[in-house]
Amino acid sequence: MKTGPLSKDHSLLLSWYRANRRDLPWRRNRDPYQIWVSEVMLQQTTVAAVVPYYEKFLTLFPRVEDLAQAPENAVLKAWAGLGYYSRARNLHKAAKALAEKGFPKAAAELIEYPGFGPYTSAAVASIAFGDRVGVLDGNVIRVLCRRFGLDVDWWTTTAKKDLQARADAFAQLGQPDEINQALMELGATICTPQSPACLLCPWTSRCEARRADQVRSLPRPKPRKKIEIWTWSPVVFRKKNQVALLQRHDTPVLRGQWLFPGDFEQVKKKPSSFHARHGITHHDLYVNVSTSSRLPRDPSFQWVDLDKVVEINPSKLLQKILDAAKGLKP
Ligand code: ADE
Repeated sequence: MKTGPLSKDHSLLLSWYRANRRDLPWRRNRDPYQIWVSEVMLQQTTVAAVVPYYEKFLTLFPRVEDLAQAPENAVLKAWAGLGYYSRARNLHKAAKALAEKGFPKAAAELIEYPGFGPYTSAAVASIAFGDRVGVLDGNVIRVLCRRFGLDVDWWTTTAKKDLQARADAFAQLGQPDEINQALMELGATICTPQSPACLLCPWTSRCEARRADQVRSLPRPKPRKKIEIWTWSPVVFRKKNQVALLQRHDTPVLRGQWLFPGDFEQVKKKPSSFHARHGITHHDLYVNVSTSSRLPRDPSFQWVDLDKVVEINPSKLLQKILDAAKGLKP
Protein backbone atom coordinates (compact mmCIF):
# COMPACT_ATOMS: atom_id res chain seq x y z
CA MET A 1 0.00 0.00 0.00
CA LYS A 2 1.24 3.47 -0.77
CA THR A 3 1.62 5.48 2.41
CA GLY A 4 1.41 9.02 1.07
CA PRO A 5 2.89 12.30 2.28
CA LEU A 6 3.67 13.17 5.87
CA SER A 7 1.10 15.95 6.01
CA LYS A 8 -1.66 13.33 5.85
CA ASP A 9 -0.10 11.51 8.83
CA HIS A 10 0.10 14.85 10.60
CA SER A 11 -3.53 15.74 10.10
CA LEU A 12 -4.84 12.26 10.94
CA LEU A 13 -2.83 12.15 14.14
CA LEU A 14 -3.82 15.66 15.15
CA SER A 15 -7.53 14.93 14.72
CA TRP A 16 -7.17 11.72 16.69
CA TYR A 17 -5.36 13.56 19.49
CA ARG A 18 -7.90 16.34 19.72
CA ALA A 19 -10.71 13.80 20.07
CA ASN A 20 -8.94 11.39 22.42
CA ARG A 21 -6.39 13.26 24.51
CA ARG A 22 -6.40 12.57 28.22
CA ASP A 23 -7.32 15.50 30.39
CA LEU A 24 -4.10 15.75 32.39
CA PRO A 25 -3.38 18.52 34.89
CA TRP A 26 -0.36 19.84 32.96
CA ARG A 27 -2.42 20.17 29.79
CA ARG A 28 -4.60 22.90 31.23
CA ASN A 29 -2.28 25.79 30.40
CA ARG A 30 1.00 26.54 28.66
CA ASP A 31 2.97 27.79 31.62
CA PRO A 32 6.59 26.76 30.94
CA TYR A 33 7.34 26.12 34.61
CA GLN A 34 4.38 23.80 35.08
CA ILE A 35 5.08 21.96 31.83
CA TRP A 36 8.72 21.59 32.77
CA VAL A 37 7.87 20.08 36.19
CA SER A 38 5.48 17.60 34.56
CA GLU A 39 7.97 16.55 31.89
CA VAL A 40 10.73 15.96 34.43
CA MET A 41 8.40 13.92 36.63
CA LEU A 42 7.18 11.90 33.63
CA GLN A 43 10.67 10.68 32.83
CA GLN A 44 10.91 7.09 34.07
CA THR A 45 7.54 7.38 35.82
CA THR A 46 3.99 6.67 34.63
CA VAL A 47 1.24 9.29 34.26
CA ALA A 48 -0.85 7.65 37.00
CA ALA A 49 2.02 7.78 39.49
CA VAL A 50 2.93 11.36 38.58
CA VAL A 51 -0.45 13.12 38.93
CA PRO A 52 -0.64 13.28 42.77
CA TYR A 53 3.03 14.30 43.07
CA TYR A 54 2.59 16.95 40.43
CA GLU A 55 -0.36 18.55 42.15
CA LYS A 56 1.31 18.51 45.56
CA PHE A 57 4.55 19.89 44.13
CA LEU A 58 2.79 22.84 42.51
CA THR A 59 0.89 23.59 45.71
CA LEU A 60 4.21 23.73 47.57
CA PHE A 61 6.09 25.58 44.79
CA PRO A 62 3.52 27.35 42.59
CA ARG A 63 6.04 29.45 40.64
CA VAL A 64 9.62 28.95 39.52
CA GLU A 65 10.64 31.64 42.02
CA ASP A 66 9.15 29.59 44.88
CA LEU A 67 11.10 26.55 43.81
CA ALA A 68 14.29 28.58 43.44
CA GLN A 69 13.98 29.93 46.98
CA ALA A 70 13.08 26.62 48.64
CA PRO A 71 15.75 24.74 50.60
CA GLU A 72 16.96 21.61 48.81
CA ASN A 73 15.65 19.26 51.51
CA ALA A 74 12.11 20.60 51.04
CA VAL A 75 12.36 19.87 47.31
CA LEU A 76 13.70 16.36 47.92
CA LYS A 77 10.96 15.72 50.46
CA ALA A 78 8.27 16.67 47.91
CA TRP A 79 9.98 14.31 45.46
CA ALA A 80 10.27 11.40 47.95
CA GLY A 81 8.81 8.27 46.32
CA LEU A 82 9.30 9.36 42.69
CA GLY A 83 12.89 8.04 42.59
CA TYR A 84 15.87 9.19 40.50
CA TYR A 85 16.55 12.08 42.84
CA SER A 86 19.15 13.71 40.60
CA ARG A 87 16.08 14.89 38.64
CA ALA A 88 14.90 16.86 41.68
CA ARG A 89 18.36 18.26 42.40
CA ASN A 90 18.77 19.42 38.81
CA LEU A 91 15.25 20.84 38.75
CA HIS A 92 16.11 22.91 41.80
CA LYS A 93 19.45 24.05 40.36
CA ALA A 94 17.91 25.07 37.05
CA ALA A 95 15.04 26.85 38.83
CA LYS A 96 17.56 29.20 40.45
CA ALA A 97 18.92 30.20 37.05
CA LEU A 98 15.52 30.34 35.32
CA ALA A 99 13.90 32.40 38.10
CA GLU A 100 16.52 35.03 37.50
CA LYS A 101 16.69 35.05 33.71
CA GLY A 102 13.26 33.77 32.67
CA PHE A 103 12.68 30.79 30.39
CA PRO A 104 14.35 30.92 27.00
CA LYS A 105 11.86 29.97 24.29
CA ALA A 106 14.01 27.67 22.17
CA ALA A 107 15.09 24.10 22.85
CA ALA A 108 18.60 25.00 21.68
CA GLU A 109 18.89 27.47 24.59
CA LEU A 110 17.06 25.49 27.26
CA ILE A 111 19.51 22.62 26.79
CA GLU A 112 22.19 24.74 28.49
CA TYR A 113 20.43 24.43 31.87
CA PRO A 114 21.07 21.66 34.44
CA GLY A 115 19.01 18.55 33.79
CA PHE A 116 17.71 19.78 30.41
CA GLY A 117 18.63 17.03 27.96
CA PRO A 118 17.34 16.86 24.38
CA TYR A 119 14.02 15.41 25.56
CA THR A 120 13.13 17.96 28.26
CA SER A 121 14.37 20.90 26.19
CA ALA A 122 12.29 19.90 23.18
CA ALA A 123 9.21 19.10 25.27
CA VAL A 124 9.18 22.40 27.17
CA ALA A 125 10.09 24.56 24.16
CA SER A 126 7.52 22.95 21.86
CA ILE A 127 4.63 22.65 24.34
CA ALA A 128 5.05 25.99 26.11
CA PHE A 129 6.40 28.14 23.27
CA GLY A 130 5.60 26.35 20.02
CA ASP A 131 9.24 25.77 19.07
CA ARG A 132 9.15 23.48 16.02
CA VAL A 133 11.31 20.66 17.35
CA GLY A 134 10.37 17.02 17.74
CA VAL A 135 10.28 15.30 21.11
CA LEU A 136 11.88 11.87 21.13
CA ASP A 137 11.04 9.62 24.05
CA GLY A 138 10.56 5.86 24.29
CA ASN A 139 6.93 6.10 23.18
CA VAL A 140 7.74 8.23 20.15
CA ILE A 141 10.62 5.97 19.15
CA ARG A 142 8.26 2.97 19.17
CA VAL A 143 5.57 4.80 17.19
CA LEU A 144 8.03 5.99 14.53
CA CYS A 145 9.81 2.63 14.20
CA ARG A 146 6.46 0.95 13.59
CA ARG A 147 4.88 3.58 11.38
CA PHE A 148 7.89 3.70 9.06
CA GLY A 149 8.96 0.05 9.47
CA LEU A 150 12.37 1.00 10.84
CA ASP A 151 14.20 -2.18 11.78
CA VAL A 152 17.15 -0.25 13.23
CA ASP A 153 19.35 -0.16 16.33
CA TRP A 154 17.36 2.82 17.63
CA TRP A 155 19.61 3.29 20.69
CA THR A 156 22.64 4.22 18.55
CA THR A 157 23.60 7.80 17.75
CA THR A 158 23.08 7.33 14.03
CA ALA A 159 19.58 5.87 14.36
CA LYS A 160 18.62 8.46 16.99
CA LYS A 161 19.62 11.22 14.58
CA ASP A 162 17.36 9.78 11.91
CA LEU A 163 14.47 9.40 14.37
CA GLN A 164 14.97 12.93 15.66
CA ALA A 165 14.83 14.21 12.07
CA ARG A 166 11.54 12.35 11.54
CA ALA A 167 10.08 13.77 14.76
CA ASP A 168 11.30 17.24 13.76
CA ALA A 169 9.59 16.87 10.39
CA PHE A 170 6.24 16.36 12.14
CA ALA A 171 6.80 19.41 14.37
CA GLN A 172 7.75 21.50 11.36
CA LEU A 173 4.40 20.82 9.75
CA GLY A 174 2.77 22.89 12.52
CA GLN A 175 1.15 22.68 15.98
CA PRO A 176 4.35 21.33 17.54
CA ASP A 177 2.79 21.43 21.01
CA GLU A 178 -0.04 19.16 19.98
CA ILE A 179 1.72 16.92 17.50
CA ASN A 180 4.52 16.10 19.96
CA GLN A 181 2.05 15.24 22.67
CA ALA A 182 -0.02 13.31 20.13
CA LEU A 183 2.96 11.12 19.23
CA MET A 184 3.64 10.48 22.92
CA GLU A 185 -0.04 9.87 23.62
CA LEU A 186 -0.37 7.42 20.74
CA GLY A 187 2.58 5.46 22.14
CA ALA A 188 1.21 5.56 25.69
CA THR A 189 -2.37 4.57 24.93
CA ILE A 190 -2.64 2.81 21.52
CA CYS A 191 0.74 1.85 20.12
CA THR A 192 1.81 0.16 23.35
CA PRO A 193 4.77 -2.26 23.58
CA GLN A 194 2.90 -5.52 24.20
CA SER A 195 -0.66 -5.31 22.93
CA PRO A 196 -1.11 -2.39 20.56
CA ALA A 197 -4.73 -1.51 19.70
CA CYS A 198 -4.07 -1.19 15.96
CA LEU A 199 -7.75 -1.07 15.07
CA LEU A 200 -8.13 2.16 17.06
CA CYS A 201 -5.03 3.77 15.57
CA PRO A 202 -5.40 6.74 13.23
CA TRP A 203 -2.53 5.30 11.17
CA THR A 204 -3.82 1.76 10.97
CA SER A 205 -3.85 1.70 7.17
CA ARG A 206 -0.58 3.65 6.86
CA CYS A 207 1.55 1.68 9.30
CA GLU A 208 4.48 -0.06 7.65
CA ALA A 209 5.01 -2.50 10.54
CA ARG A 210 1.37 -3.55 10.33
CA ARG A 211 1.54 -4.00 6.58
CA ALA A 212 4.63 -6.21 6.93
CA ASP A 213 3.30 -8.03 10.03
CA GLN A 214 6.18 -6.64 12.11
CA VAL A 215 4.25 -4.85 14.84
CA ARG A 216 5.40 -7.40 17.43
CA SER A 217 9.06 -7.30 16.41
CA LEU A 218 9.45 -3.50 16.11
CA PRO A 219 11.10 -1.63 17.62
CA ARG A 220 14.00 -4.05 17.97
CA PRO A 221 14.70 -4.96 21.58
CA LYS A 222 17.65 -3.09 22.99
CA PRO A 223 20.38 -5.44 24.25
CA ARG A 224 20.15 -5.43 28.04
CA LYS A 225 23.01 -4.43 30.29
CA LYS A 226 23.97 -7.42 32.39
CA ILE A 227 22.66 -7.12 35.95
CA GLU A 228 25.47 -6.78 38.49
CA ILE A 229 25.05 -8.31 41.94
CA TRP A 230 26.46 -6.30 44.84
CA THR A 231 26.45 -6.59 48.60
CA TRP A 232 26.56 -3.66 50.99
CA SER A 233 27.24 -3.86 54.72
CA PRO A 234 26.05 -0.50 56.04
CA VAL A 235 26.86 0.38 59.65
CA VAL A 236 24.22 2.44 61.40
CA PHE A 237 25.95 4.51 64.09
CA ARG A 238 23.32 5.60 66.59
CA LYS A 239 23.47 8.43 69.09
CA LYS A 240 20.13 9.03 70.86
CA ASN A 241 17.71 9.64 68.00
CA GLN A 242 20.41 10.47 65.49
CA VAL A 243 22.35 8.43 62.93
CA ALA A 244 25.63 9.18 61.14
CA LEU A 245 25.65 9.73 57.36
CA LEU A 246 28.58 10.23 55.03
CA GLN A 247 28.60 11.76 51.56
CA ARG A 248 30.02 8.94 49.45
CA HIS A 249 31.66 9.05 46.06
CA ASP A 250 32.96 5.47 46.13
CA THR A 251 29.75 3.50 45.56
CA PRO A 252 28.35 1.62 42.56
CA VAL A 253 24.91 3.24 43.05
CA LEU A 254 23.60 6.47 44.61
CA ARG A 255 27.01 8.04 44.04
CA GLY A 256 27.53 11.45 45.64
CA GLN A 257 24.69 10.96 48.08
CA TRP A 258 24.54 10.89 51.89
CA LEU A 259 24.66 7.22 52.91
CA PHE A 260 25.69 5.00 55.79
CA PRO A 261 29.34 3.94 55.91
CA GLY A 262 30.22 0.32 55.09
CA ASP A 263 31.71 -1.71 52.27
CA PHE A 264 30.24 -2.47 48.87
CA GLU A 265 31.41 -5.60 47.11
CA GLN A 266 30.53 -7.04 43.72
CA VAL A 267 29.74 -10.76 43.97
CA LYS A 268 28.86 -13.58 41.58
CA LYS A 269 25.85 -14.99 43.38
CA LYS A 270 23.02 -13.61 45.43
CA PRO A 271 23.93 -14.08 49.14
CA SER A 272 21.88 -16.64 51.08
CA SER A 273 20.83 -14.21 53.81
CA PHE A 274 20.33 -10.45 53.80
CA HIS A 275 18.21 -7.81 55.51
CA ALA A 276 17.03 -5.99 52.42
CA ARG A 277 17.27 -6.09 48.68
CA HIS A 278 17.20 -3.05 46.42
CA GLY A 279 17.27 -2.87 42.63
CA ILE A 280 18.60 0.27 40.91
CA THR A 281 19.15 0.41 37.14
CA HIS A 282 21.30 -2.66 36.41
CA HIS A 283 22.41 -3.24 40.00
CA ASP A 284 20.90 -5.81 42.32
CA LEU A 285 21.97 -4.81 45.82
CA TYR A 286 21.80 -7.08 48.88
CA VAL A 287 22.14 -5.33 52.19
CA ASN A 288 23.36 -6.68 55.53
CA VAL A 289 22.95 -4.10 58.25
CA SER A 290 24.89 -3.77 61.50
CA THR A 291 24.57 -1.14 64.20
CA SER A 292 27.04 0.50 66.53
CA SER A 293 26.76 2.83 69.50
CA ARG A 294 30.47 3.63 69.21
CA LEU A 295 30.89 7.13 67.79
CA PRO A 296 32.86 7.53 64.58
CA ARG A 297 35.49 10.26 64.92
CA ASP A 298 35.70 11.13 61.27
CA PRO A 299 34.63 14.80 60.90
CA SER A 300 33.08 14.11 57.50
CA PHE A 301 30.16 12.34 59.20
CA GLN A 302 26.98 14.28 59.59
CA TRP A 303 24.64 13.47 62.49
CA VAL A 304 21.06 13.48 61.30
CA ASP A 305 17.81 13.17 63.28
CA LEU A 306 16.07 9.93 62.37
CA ASP A 307 12.99 11.71 61.07
CA LYS A 308 15.16 14.01 58.90
CA VAL A 309 16.98 11.21 57.06
CA VAL A 310 14.28 11.18 54.39
CA GLU A 311 14.98 14.86 53.66
CA ILE A 312 18.73 14.38 53.30
CA ASN A 313 18.30 11.25 51.22
CA PRO A 314 14.78 10.19 50.20
CA SER A 315 15.85 6.83 48.71
CA LYS A 316 13.70 4.00 50.00
CA LEU A 317 16.91 2.04 50.51
CA LEU A 318 17.84 4.12 53.57
CA GLN A 319 14.43 3.53 55.12
CA LYS A 320 14.83 -0.22 54.55
CA ILE A 321 18.18 -0.06 56.34
CA LEU A 322 16.74 1.91 59.26
CA ASP A 323 13.89 -0.59 59.54
CA ALA A 324 16.37 -3.46 59.68
CA ALA A 325 18.53 -1.59 62.22
CA LYS A 326 15.56 -1.20 64.57
CA GLY A 327 15.51 -4.93 65.17
CA LEU A 328 19.27 -5.21 65.86
CA LYS A 329 21.29 -4.88 69.07
CA PRO A 330 24.19 -2.45 68.85
N1 ADE B 1 4.78 11.62 28.38
C1 ADE B 1 5.62 12.57 28.80
N2 ADE B 1 5.16 13.78 28.52
C2 ADE B 1 3.98 13.60 27.90
C3 ADE B 1 3.04 14.48 27.36
N3 ADE B 1 3.20 15.80 27.43
N4 ADE B 1 1.97 13.93 26.77
C4 ADE B 1 1.83 12.60 26.70
N5 ADE B 1 2.66 11.74 27.22
C5 ADE B 1 3.75 12.23 27.81
